[in-house]
Amino acid sequence: MSVPVVAVTRQIPSPGIAPLEEAGFVVRYREVDAACPADELTELAAPAAGLFCLLSERVDAALLDAAPNLRIVANMAVGYDNIDVAACVERGVMVTNTPDVLTDATADLTWALLLAAARRIGEGERLTRTGRWSGWRPGELLGTGLGGKTLGIFGMGKIGSAVARRAVGFEMDVIYHNRRPVPGATAGYVSLEELLTRSDVIVLNAPSTPETRHVIDAAALATMKPTALLVNTARGPLVDEAALVAALQGGVIAGAGLDVYEAEPVIHPGLLELDNVVLAPHLGSATHEARAAMVQLACDNLVAVLSGQQPLTPVISLR
Ligand code: DGY
Repeated sequence: MSVPVVAVTRQIPSPGIAPLEEAGFVVRYREVDAACPADELTELAAPAAGLFCLLSERVDAALLDAAPNLRIVANMAVGYDNIDVAACVERGVMVTNTPDVLTDATADLTWALLLAAARRIGEGERLTRTGRWSGWRPGELLGTGLGGKTLGIFGMGKIGSAVARRAVGFEMDVIYHNRRPVPGATAGYVSLEELLTRSDVIVLNAPSTPETRHVIDAAALATMKPTALLVNTARGPLVDEAALVAALQGGVIAGAGLDVYEAEPVIHPGLLELDNVVLAPHLGSATHEARAAMVQLACDNLVAVLSGQQPLTPVISLR
């Protein structure tokens, strides 16, 4: 039996490709710290039985057709909107992701952005770094207290639930909207309309799908409180970025914290000019611990499928 070939689309953190080499695979490692362009990806994946990819790579029907031996696409991310799952299923190709291991890291980052937006940390940092700070002033950069305020969570999956758990320490009331109520959720289920109108802070923790695209658009923003903050650590397309820029410019809402963007790595130029938005470069799962666990889990999925076992974290069943 021939040794399976595994293609790895870009440089990955520790443990790197060691688990794949230990499993005895032939590893085609594109050890470049940048997204893999489509033509290179096609060439890299062509002989592969397994593909280790990241959210920066698009896996579509054309790529799958160019890689006829492919049995598994292991995405090193919990989100898998970069993969045409239906095209994979049609061709009998397993798709896996990396849930759970990044839940806490992403919930922490959500809170980091929430707090930064509420307490105007970005503005304060710019003030001090540019030498414009003239000393303590009682009315300087006043932010928003969180105690007793309402946190609205859009998407009550694992990350949304972890965000909700952290709200207890801040003594916030938590409500959520989800495709359907979550059994045992500690927060109250509300309609999307109620979430928008009641929340003092709205955090987005839902996947990017046709249904969630632009869930925050001009109309949604108009129903939010003028004092409200919006935090997005999910995927950029959930927010109509142009509408958000207009809302932040016009005082329709008070501020935002964003980790993800509609056309990453391009950021709407209007956002870059605004002081009332905190911008992070897609850092949700960026801890040493989470990234190592994501690499290991993606590798474990590849090893399982290529040795005839069930994957640990399939996104969909092939049966
Ligand atoms: C994911 O996993 O989907 C994040 O966006 C990157 O860690």
